[in-house]
Amino acid sequence: MLFTRPALLRGAREDTHVLHLGPQDVVTWNGLLPEVLDRGSFPGGAVEEEVQEKHLGAFRFFAGSTLAIRADPRATRWFEAGADVDGDDLRASEYLSDVFERTGHLEAPANAFADPRAYTHFTAVPAMRAARAQFVSFAVDTLPPESGALRVLDVGCGDGGIVSELLPALLEAGRWDEVASITLLDPSPEMISTAKARLAAEWPGARVEGRLARLEHVASGLSGPFDLAIGSLSLHHMPAEMKGRALAALASSIDHLLLLELDADHDSPEVGSPRLAASIHHSYGWLLAQVLGPGDPDEVARESADQFVAPELVSLLTQPRGTRTEYHMRRDRWLTLLAEAMGPEIRPLGTQTALATPYVDLFALHMGRLG
Ligand SMILES: C[S@@+](CC[C@H](N)C(=O)[O-])C[C@H]1O[C@@H](n2cnc3c(N)ncnc32)[C@H](O)[C@@H]1O
Repeated sequence: MLFTRPALLRGAREDTHVLHLGPQDVVTWNGLLPEVLDRGSFPGGAVEEEVQEKHLGAFRFFAGSTLAIRADPRATRWFEAGADVDGDDLRASEYLSDVFERTGHLEAPANAFADPRAYTHFTAVPAMRAARAQFVSFAVDTLPPESGALRVLDVGCGDGGIVSELLPALLEAGRWDEVASITLLDPSPEMISTAKARLAAEWPGARVEGRLARLEHVASGLSGPFDLAIGSLSLHHMPAEMKGRALAALASSIDHLLLLELDADHDSPEVGSPRLAASIHHSYGWLLAQVLGPGDPDEVARESADQFVAPELVSLLTQPRGTRTEYHMRRDRWLTLLAEAMGPEIRPLGTQTALATPYVDLFALHMGRLG
């Protein structure tokens, strides 16, 4: 399905579920913080009278995480009260309460993507399988018919699962006749070797190359051209200005770019701000509910939360812009940034919600050259 840009932007605003605090909420939450930090207010007390009822779980997460960053034991009470309000659907307060109990502070383990198994568990949960299947069918629907041999670049390929799902669908739908080359780019050696082994086994006739690098360091020097570049849950690891520079550098060597991203507001809000806490509470709360699964988590689920989700979550809660590792953006911000960065020849060709939940959405987005 092709969209004109205004329609695309309209659609982008209509179907999002991210929790967005209004300016008055931000003033209220900031004003209540001294009550929590300095005057020892507790959940359920007068301090919460000014908080909108629908925001209670998010406010408790804000209070709990602000205390936890200071290694203040009162964090537990706020997290537990937050978990009572959130129930099983949003598990950020419950999870951080557990982390805080275990460690007494909030500290990110070294590297979120060192062990592909922790990430692979996440990609296999039902919600992510559904989102990825939708991403593949969106790609098939919006890519124009081409002929010849496909040269594909996967930016932040991870374990290679998404490109592995996408390629057979593209060939089956006649988008390309065969696969000539697969370039896998990722700064994690473990991810690159897992992805490379997988794709080389699946596509013995194709040239499979692994590049151990960050996109922002190599975007202008990749040995393209590429018919298609994909970035599935990877470009959000750069702040907006770096995303823009890297995509501008990449633009001349690609015809199409397909993104799968989470609609959340983690780029511009600063560390410790109510807006960032509110967005994290919904997005990571939902993510943790998927990773941990219903009931008591098994060992794999627990490891996935600790090794893949926690480092990103703790980075967002403790590190300033420029230092932290995660910068999810709202879909309309992506559209503006992509249009500015990629120049007039690469245009938005479509967007679709890949997964809608009451708390957060995943969306697919296609930028490409026409003709
Ligand atoms: C959430 S995983 C997504 C993996 C895969 N694309 C998928 O959808 O299953 C994010 C991946 O992006 C990689 N990554 C992080 N920062 C990056 C950067 N600056 N440039 C390229 N890849 C990056 C990580 O190492 C990780 O493998």
